[in-house]
Formats: sequence, C-alpha cells, structure tokens
Amino acid sequence: MHVLLTGSSGWLGRFLAPMLAEEGHDVTGFDIAPGEYTGIVGSVSDRSMVDRAFSNADIDAVIHAGGLHQPDLARCPSSAFVDTNVQGTLNMLEASRAAGVDRFVFTSTTSLMACEAVHSGTSSRAVWFDESYAPLEPRNVYGVTKLAAEQLCRLHSLQHRMNCIVLRPGRFFPGEDSAQPDLSADNHKANEFLNCRLMVDDVARAHVLALERAPALGFDTFILSAPTPFVRDDTNDLKRNAKAVIGRLFPEAARLFARRGRQLPASISRVYDSSHSQSVLGLRYDTRFSDILTALREGEDLPFATDRSPGCEQNPDLQRMEKDL
Ligand SMILES: NC(=O)c1ccc[n+]([C@@H]2O[C@H](COP(=O)([O-])OP(=O)(O)OC[C@H]3O[C@@H](n4cnc5c(N)ncnc54)[C@H](O)[C@@H]3O)[C@@H](O)[C@H]2O)c1
Repeated sequence: MHVLLTGSSGWLGRFLAPMLAEEGHDVTGFDIAPGEYTGIVGSVSDRSMVDRAFSNADIDAVIHAGGLHQPDLARCPSSAFVDTNVQGTLNMLEASRAAGVDRFVFTSTTSLMACEAVHSGTSSRAVWFDESYAPLEPRNVYGVTKLAAEQLCRLHSLQHRMNCIVLRPGRFFPGEDSAQPDLSADNHKANEFLNCRLMVDDVARAHVLALERAPALGFDTFILSAPTPFVRDDTNDLKRNAKAVIGRLFPEAARLFARRGRQLPASISRVYDSSHSQSVLGLRYDTRFSDILTALREGEDLPFATDRSPGCEQNPDLQRMEKDL
C-alpha cells in the first residue's frame, strides 16, 4: 500500500516510517517540520497543502499521527490546537475521501480519558479505563481537540463508510518527566509500565496492525498501553497501598527495585486496560513490567534506555518549528 503518514518527523513517525517500509509499504511522510522520512513539508491545517499531498501520488491509506500534543500545551495557544488537531484532521479525512482512500488510522491519546479526579488525586480508588469508559471529560485543550478529532473520524466512518481506526496510546515520551520530581525519570517510567506507559516500538506496531485490519474492523477505538498486571478488583488497594498489590503479583519487585536505588509507587490512581488491542487488534506487546524486572535482575539496561540513543534525539529543526506554530 502507499501510505501517507503525517507526523513523519516526530518521535513516533521516525519509528513508524521505517517499520511500514519494512512491511513492504511505500511511505510518503507529511510534516510541518523537515525530517529524514518527510517528503512533504507543510501543515495539515492548510487544506491546499493537504490536497497537494494527495494529488502527487496514488495514496491507498492514511496514518494521521501528526499534530500538537501534551508538551505543546506550554508553548502553543488553544487556537493552534484547534487548527492543527481538529481542522487538520478534518482536512485529512475530507481529502482522503476525495482521493478514494478507505483506510484511515488516527493517533489519539489516553490523555483525553484522564478526568480531573485522577489528576487532583481526589478519587477514592484507582480509575479503571477501558474503551467503554464514560463520560469523557478531557481536562485540557489537547484532550478536547483529540476527542473532537476522534468524533470526526467516527462521523466519517458512519457517513462515508471509511474504515477508521482510532488508537489511544498511553505515554511513550522519550524525554525526562517532571510529573514526580522526587523520582528519577527512569524510575518514574519503570513504574508507569504497570498502568500507563508503553514503548514507542509497540505503538508503531499497533499502527501497522491497524492499517492491515481496518477493512475488517470498520470503525474501532483501541487503548494502547503495556498490558497491566492488575485486575479491576485491585483498584481500591492500588489507591491505598500499591506496593502491597505489586508485592503480591511480583514478590521480588521491591528487592530488585531497591537494589538499583529505585522505588515502587505507593499509590496508583489510574489503570489503562489495553485488553481490546490484544484480543481484537491482535497486538502482542514486546515490553511489559515483567521485562523491567528481568532487566533489573540481570543487571541490564532498562528497555527504554535506548529511547535516548543519539539517533532518536528530538530534532532541533522540529523544536524550532513547533515553537513558531
Ligand atoms: N509521545 C507520547 O507519549 C504520546 C502519548 C499519547 C499520544 N501521542 C500522540 O502520538 C502522536 C505522535 O506523538 P509524538 O510523541 O511522535 O510527537 P512529536 O511531537 O514528536 O511528533 C508530532 C509530529 O507532528 C508534527 N506536526 C505538528 N503540527 C503539525 C501540522 N500542523 N502539520 C503537520 N505536522 C505537524 C510535528 O512537527 C511532529 O513531527 C501525536 O498525535 C500525539 O498526540 C503521543
């Protein structure tokens, strides 16, 4: 298939573009910032640019991963989120339809599910998120615009029979994380593999699978997160004493963490359940919390250590252009 991939200069795009090529697809990258895998430099919010991207080649399928996301909240106004994530997605959908494309994969986010109670820590138990979770009440313009874009995909699928797959990945940022300043970034990431993080390679593979399965699925939404070892009945205990739940499931975890100067989480306030992606999309996650423990036991690098390899550093051109948006 000839795939038009937006966000091809970004963190995910730089994994996904070569993976698609390895699977035998032709890839045209489309991004506002230049990059190794980007053939068309332009904005998805510019309809004439989008039309040009489709007119230059016979596009069979679209993966729309480009846009503004969580880190952009600090540097972009709300209107830029609406232009890029909502108008940009509408442009991509309408141009896809005009070009006869029948497969559209949209990269959304679990962030749109995380309600205020989770962030303020006021919920009495951990919130269990699966695709049926409602009501969806995003707490910032990033989540609001991703939710609107998801709805445009749903509507397009309904009205125009376009096969649209919405993927909601959990966290796969490569960089430092300031969410818990008392923990090192690596410790924080390791803990997140229990409930809300996954590796970028697994995110990329989910996109490849979604592309393949789209005609059989029609419209569907999938949470992507490393498979959680917890069950719904754990939610009370996870909030009150997460270490006890983890100790029951992984008796050596506390010792392995302590040996490398790391701490397990005392409390967990949310869990993203990715069962649907495993059972329906057929995604097999390569990296789980148990792999973190294996690495600690064997004295190896943690699986996400490669996230900081020089080839994967954020491209300075990209950072400059994002600031200009
Ligand atoms: N990184 C995460 O932890 C995470 C978690 C959940 C969802 N996501 C989603 O995954 C997708 C990829 O995330 P990422 O981590 O690779 O982000 P990234 O910022 O590295 O990549 C996003 C890309 O989109 C491009 N872009 C921005 N505005 C554009 C526009 N107007 N037109 C065309 N391209 C534009 C950027 O230049 C960038 O290359 C995003 O849609 C993001 O919302 C990311």
